[in-house]
Amino acid sequence: MRAETERLILRPWEDRDLDPFFALNSDPEVMRFFPALYTREETAAYMARVSAAVDSGLGFQAVEEKASGDLVGVVGMAEVKPEMPSAPAVEIGWRLAKHHWGKGYASEAANGWLVYGFETLGLPEIVAFTFVGNQPSRRVMERLGMTRDPADDFDHPSIAAGHPLRPHVLYRLKADAFSQRAAQG
Ligand SMILES: CC(C)(COP(=O)(O)OP(=O)(O)OC[C@H]1O[C@@H](n2cnc3c(N)ncnc32)[C@H](O)[C@@H]1OP(=O)(O)O)[C@@H](O)C(=O)NCCC(=O)NCCS
Repeated sequence: MRAETERLILRPWEDRDLDPFFALNSDPEVMRFFPALYTREETAAYMARVSAAVDSGLGFQAVEEKASGDLVGVVGMAEVKPEMPSAPAVEIGWRLAKHHWGKGYASEAANGWLVYGFETLGLPEIVAFTFVGNQPSRRVMERLGMTRDPADDFDHPSIAAGHPLRPHVLYRLKADAFSQRAAQG
């Protein structure tokens, strides 16, 4: 999908994104809530995988800053993997380069994706999940109007038992709640 928000362009991956995306994926601070950093090869494989699957209309894609042409990071939506407790569902997620934190870019790009998910794809609900201690990401979910029911909390099935990053929280947003918020401005 391609879309513009006030300050950002949401678009498919381009070859020029590899260097800045690898820099972000190998930054230990950006990746502190992920089990591992990505190598350059893993970053390239991720971009290729997403690019091959664009027909579904979903995907974790590039976010570009309009003013500079810089890669801001990755924001997008995907089908939740079948082994996850919230499946079947569509999730939204984000990861930005550190020098683009604190500007509202994650929320702005995610809101662009929510408009696309609800208004173009007609999804009834979009979910998001993160490590319970990832406060910056939880703040983005809350800013978007997503809500958490502690009954939905879960242990991530692909993180080993006992690993500190295993406990996750799930946030949900229904289409009618999104359109009510949009109508209120
Ligand atoms: C999660 C992450 C994307 C959040 O980034 P962020 O910059 O905090 O989030 P936003 O883009 O919504 O920006 C909001 C912040 O910008 C500030 N801001 C500045 N100008 C703003 C504007 N014009 N509009 C909105 N917010 C603005 C807000 O006050 C807010 O700061 P606060 O959280 O200190 O109150 C970022 O921390 C990240 O990439 N983390 C590492 C990867 C990760 O953990 N991803 C999630 C995995 S589930």
